[in-house]
Amino acid sequence: MDSSLPEWRSYFATIADSYDRLQPVLSPPYSKGLDMLVDLIPFDADDSFEFVDLGCGTAEPTKRVLEHFRYATGTCIDSEPEMLALARRKLTSYSDRIEVREADITSCEIQPCDVIFSAKTFHHLPPASLPELFARIAGALRPGGCLVLYDAMSVGPRWGTNARQQSSRFRQRHLQDAVASGVATQQEIDARVEYKRAMKAAGQDVEYEHSAENMIDAMIDAGFAEVAVVWRMFADTILLAFTPAEDA
Ligand SMILES: C[S@@+](CC[C@H](N)C(=O)[O-])C[C@H]1O[C@@H](n2cnc3c(N)ncnc32)[C@H](O)[C@@H]1O
Repeated sequence: MDSSLPEWRSYFATIADSYDRLQPVLSPPYSKGLDMLVDLIPFDADDSFEFVDLGCGTAEPTKRVLEHFRYATGTCIDSEPEMLALARRKLTSYSDRIEVREADITSCEIQPCDVIFSAKTFHHLPPASLPELFARIAGALRPGGCLVLYDAMSVGPRWGTNARQQSSRFRQRHLQDAVASGVATQQEIDARVEYKRAMKAAGQDVEYEHSAENMIDAMIDAGFAEVAVVWRMFADTILLAFTPAEDA
């Protein structure tokens, strides 16, 4: 990948083709996080329910949900056509149970459903957009509905040098293993890191640091009855939130 900024393409258009291969390399907790996301959806494998995936990317989370819950139906939404093209291809055999929509999740309508999930997407959304988005999510979920929100979130005040070192040692080992096993090359890892750095330096931030505490406050303000941190691996965090039950 060229590390100069391709002004004519968005960040995700640029990385789409290598996303499925490199995301689990660059984000060591990613595969475990997706396993947890599926496990945390509060339905049994044979239940039928409707879901929405916000920022579906190449649809890896949606594919896993459709695989596990064979009667679930849903919609996955993303704003990036090149990611969605890969999503559509990946979901071909589930086309009777899934609609793939191109839309901006900071403003689009979200249809009524039982479960909304999102993986690794909210850190791309400006903090100011979150209260309104959480209100739309809470409004779309049926009574007692559930939001499973998986993303990197900043860690608390007692996170110090040792934890930081352990986190980067863990990531480094993971990257080295990926290079040694031929999954990725050091050059493409370096190019991706450099690309992100150049985007930030050019003021085209693609990432924001949200904290779990701020997210939880915003969700409660938006009308969720309950929000909990239910899984964490370094900064990767899953929040589970429920709208009030019908009789509440
Ligand atoms: C890191 S990827 C995560 C994709 C997928 N959820 C996964 O876990 O592999 C982030 C995705 O969010 C999408 N995205 C970012 N901002 C968005 C927005 N405002 N509306 C819709 N999608 C957005 C990007 O296009 C990208 O596909």
